[in-house]
Amino acid sequence: MIGSATGPRIGITGLGVHVPERVLTNDDLAQIVDTSDEWIVERTGIRERRIARDDEALTDIALPAARAALADAGAHGGEIDLVICATVTPDMMFPTSSALLADALGAREAAAYDLLAGCTGFMYALAQAYGMLASGLSRRALVVGGDVLSKILDWEDRSTLVLFGDGAGAVVMERIGEGGFLGFELGADGGGGMHLCYPGSGSRRFENPQSILKMNGREVFKFATRVMVSSARAVLAQCGKTVADVDVYVPHQANKRIIDYAVGKLGIPDERTVVNVDRYGNTSSGSIPLALADARDDGRLSEGALVLMTGMGAGLTWGSALIEWTPSRAAGR
Ligand SMILES: CC(C)(COP(=O)(O)OP(=O)(O)OC[C@H]1O[C@@H](n2cnc3c(N)ncnc32)[C@H](O)[C@@H]1OP(=O)(O)O)[C@@H](O)C(=O)NCCC(=O)NCCS
Repeated sequence: MIGSATGPRIGITGLGVHVPERVLTNDDLAQIVDTSDEWIVERTGIRERRIARDDEALTDIALPAARAALADAGAHGGEIDLVICATVTPDMMFPTSSALLADALGAREAAAYDLLAGCTGFMYALAQAYGMLASGLSRRALVVGGDVLSKILDWEDRSTLVLFGDGAGAVVMERIGEGGFLGFELGADGGGGMHLCYPGSGSRRFENPQSILKMNGREVFKFATRVMVSSARAVLAQCGKTVADVDVYVPHQANKRIIDYAVGKLGIPDERTVVNVDRYGNTSSGSIPLALADARDDGRLSEGALVLMTGMGAGLTWGSALIEWTPSRAAGR
């Protein structure tokens, strides 16, 4: 699916993030499985990640992020009429995490649902909220992306364990006067879906599901390097922009090697690329908002900056969005 924004301007008016307190370093992981800081840094660029406590679930991490996004937007829960929570690790299948969040935030008038699109979930959720706002169905939406993949990892499998971390982010979206989203490109390839899967998590019966994440790292690596480039090029072309127009590039933080490949192929200068995979690992649906927040804190999300975001992940799925950044409401827009 590809399209450019032709209707009313829709922007991000608030952004908030939250990660668990507990830091797990590569050396800590080397106490658990046969790995080393050197191997992990060389193959992934990851140095540490945040891991939720046993009693922390997705909404415990997502709620502070959502509250921060609302404060940034100068809004309160009662002014939100749509909550979409992108996650593959909800508190439970139902009640949905979005409904729990809406309740905790006092968003009594909100429609609320969870969205499953692997690590691309946040990008899909942005596009859905965009559509609801542009059509006039929603007036102010809260989009949450977050995961606690530590809960579904195989803690004996070094090839997946070292890659992931926990974290969440949220944005408030609404109509604005200038700037905002220019377009989206989203896609899926279920043919490659089993390269990154969670057997036993649904209605398909498996003999020995074990309820853990399984991944064919090499196949996912090949897929990721391909779509990170093709999706970014597609959305840029759709919106009549080029790589030279991009001020800030926010790629999904899966692996530094994948980011380096995409940056090299696209020709985006390193200084325009946001990288925090070293501190958080791959936080799945939390990855893009966490990177956006870092860019903001570094002063890179100036008014009018053209921001390119690209995600990819389980499904297999991918998605890109282009947005002309506008300052948050609380910042005085
Ligand atoms: C997982 C990944 C880092 C593995 O890197 P790689 O260079 O492909 O490594 P390989 O799978 O070829 O494994 C090389 C060796 O390292 C070993 N190895 C794997 N994980 C290891 C670890 N954590 N520590 C030490 N050695 C490890 C393998 O067992 C293998 O050993 P062998 O040669 O004796 O069999 C890489 O494939 C990758 O990043 N894939 C994409 C994953 C991803 O981003 N998924 C999420 C998408 S949203």
